[in-house]
Amino acid sequence: MAHIMRQLIITLGLMLSGVCCFNKKDHHGQSKHAGVTYQVTLDVFSGLEDPKWDIDHTSPFYARIEKAYKSVPSTPLGEHLGYHGFLVKTTETYGQKGSWTVGPGKNKELETMLLKSCCNTLRNEELETSSLQTCGCSLSRVVTDFVTRAINGIIHHQPRRPHHGPPIVNSTACTTRYEPHVWNVRGVIRRNNCYNYGTNRQTNTFAQPGRASGVRLNTSHINATLVYSLCVRDGLTRLNGPTPGNDCLMALVIWPGSDFHFYRLDDNGFWSHKPGRTAVIDTDHSRRRMNDIEAADHGPYTVFAGYLGVGTNININ
Ligand SMILES: *[C@@H]1O[C@H](CO)[C@@H](O)[C@H](O)[C@H]1NC(C)=O
Ligand SMILES: *[C@@H]1O[C@H](CO)[C@@H](O)[C@H](O)[C@H]1NC(C)=O
Ligand SMILES: *[C@@H]1O[C@H](CO)[C@@H](O)[C@H](O)[C@H]1NC(C)=O
Repeated sequence: MAHIMRQLIITLGLMLSGVCCFNKKDHHGQSKHAGVTYQVTLDVFSGLEDPKWDIDHTSPFYARIEKAYKSVPSTPLGEHLGYHGFLVKTTETYGQKGSWTVGPGKNKELETMLLKSCCNTLRNEELETSSLQTCGCSLSRVVTDFVTRAINGIIHHQPRRPHHGPPIVNSTACTTRYEPHVWNVRGVIRRNNCYNYGTNRQTNTFAQPGRASGVRLNTSHINATLVYSLCVRDGLTRLNGPTPGNDCLMALVIWPGSDFHFYRLDDNGFWSHKPGRTAVIDTDHSRRRMNDIEAADHGPYTVFAGYLGVGTNININ
């Protein structure tokens, strides 16, 4: 009996405290959410920083994101090139931080909503009918279309192409080994990208071609000539083919107008890479190992921009 009484008192107490706090929040009306913001990151790039945007209580997406954040468990971000899903970070009223990941292809409706939330200037009634292209979202049309297709399971794989170029002449001095465990660890994995991995330099700065030599990459006009020449500015060796001499061998591919990506040749004769903030892997977009980088499937990185030599005198940041 005493036990039941105690339970009742505890339950009653909990209910009362709930009522008290709920009322307090309601009392403050709209300021009730003012302190909580969501930062949505679309994890899609390998070389450039991923697009991100903030959602505060003035966004028409606020309530939907809040509800999903509280009820949908995290799913892991994808690997390989291209769309990896969304990362949502919160900062709450007293500075507490939280994060939530929505992996690719798991929940179409939620992923589509998160993509659309880039349109956070629209009014509620405009949302249903608008497209990302008309809402003033800062994502380019190319990236938006690519991600929309990926969310809906439309992923283009390039067939293995016959390769007629000259064969790789092995470097006389490079001994880069495939050691994913050196990169796929906390504190390293999210701070280093394909340029860090390709050059085998952990700067923890998400390195950008040209930055160490004082040039800011024009991110809205990514092309092969531009990125290649910035690498050369950083001290990498210009090569006409896969003949690195004493250097280590790296290859550059371009997603025209959107992003760049690098691969490196390891001493086992296979190529490996680090797609953006995700793990180091040794398979291509079609999950195949790569002994011929020009014949590999690079997903949206459709332009093969050439080979570069990584010597000891490079400077990247
Ligand atoms: C980027 O490049 C384009 C043309 O290639 C140019 O119109 C634009 O002004 C450049 N932006 C910056 C910030 O340099
Ligand atoms: C590549 O971009 C640079 C800088 O925006 C521009 O000057 C150059 O003409 C572009 N090259 C090609 C082939 O589009
Ligand atoms: C280069 O090295 C790899 C791995 O050791 C080997 O499989 C390949 O045959 C070598 N290529 C040449 C041209 O010697």
